[in-house]
Amino acid sequence: MIGIYFSGTGNTRFCVEYLLQQLETDAKAYSIEAENVSEQIKKEQEIILGYPIYYSNLPKILNDFIIENKDLWMDKKIYLVATMGLFSGDGAGVAARQLKKYGAKITGGLHLAMPDCICDEKVLKKTLEKNRAMVNKSKVKIEAAANRYKEGRPTKEGLNLFYHMAGLLGQRLYFYNKTKNYTDKLKINKEKCIGCGKCAGLCPMKNITIEEKKAISHESCTMCYRCINNCPVQAITLLGDKVVQQSVIEKYL
Ligand SMILES: Cc1cc2nc3c(=O)[nH]c(=O)nc-3n(C[C@H](O)[C@H](O)[C@H](O)COP(=O)(O)O)c2cc1C
Ligand code: SF4
Ligand code: SF4
Repeated sequence: MIGIYFSGTGNTRFCVEYLLQQLETDAKAYSIEAENVSEQIKKEQEIILGYPIYYSNLPKILNDFIIENKDLWMDKKIYLVATMGLFSGDGAGVAARQLKKYGAKITGGLHLAMPDCICDEKVLKKTLEKNRAMVNKSKVKIEAAANRYKEGRPTKEGLNLFYHMAGLLGQRLYFYNKTKNYTDKLKINKEKCIGCGKCAGLCPMKNITIEEKKAISHESCTMCYRCINNCPVQAITLLGDKVVQQSVIEKYL
């Protein structure tokens, strides 16, 4: 078994690692950003795949990863873990449909509510205590899901037609275009930026470069919010205009 994930701010990485721990396996979890990840996938038949939900859909970077590695998925048994701030409809279903096209066998799905990583919008902001409680609740859910997996009856959240309709009607029909392409809308406040380079080093898309001691954003942002939540002077925004509360999983553990 192997764990694979994409995680902007750590929620999904934590959930996949915690699930593997509860499954009492020595399986390792790899980010899709890891250099040798395709080689690791090739070797294993059973996969736990985790990702955050963006607008009830897959992050573009994960969608592209699935397509670029389409030869890897044939006959793999894949259990899907979708993390979200509130609601996704068919969070597990969106990857399931994609992976099935390439011959994967979907063994189950799990939806986990985690702290909202969109730190420049007031909506969905919770206190530190509430976010910690949310993570604890998801840990309990992961423990129960691990037991079911071990008993051979994995959870099936997000996989049937009812979830599919909820995902479509809940959001995807309205927001479909938002995750179709990478975005050039990331904003960096030059007055605030101290040129530390942290954002450039963290970006999974290499979308940020440092020029003349200032960060510059290009056109291939996957909207993961990693740089925005980690900038020491809160100089970066995307959907909103001001960072309200930075969010990374380490704050809640
Ligand atoms: C661009 C964007 C869109 C999002 N859309 C949704 C959504 O449709 N529904 C939801 O419940 N959460 C949504 N979220 C919240 C994330 O899914 C959630 O915080 C997730 O756990 C982040 O995981 P990560 O830390 O592994 O990146 C969105 C986050 C981003 C950055
Ligand atoms: S992390 Fe913030 S301060 Fe550092 S280079 Fe990036 S934008 Fe500038
Ligand atoms: S620019 Fe920031 S939000 Fe966009 S992909 Fe890179 S780290 Fe993520």
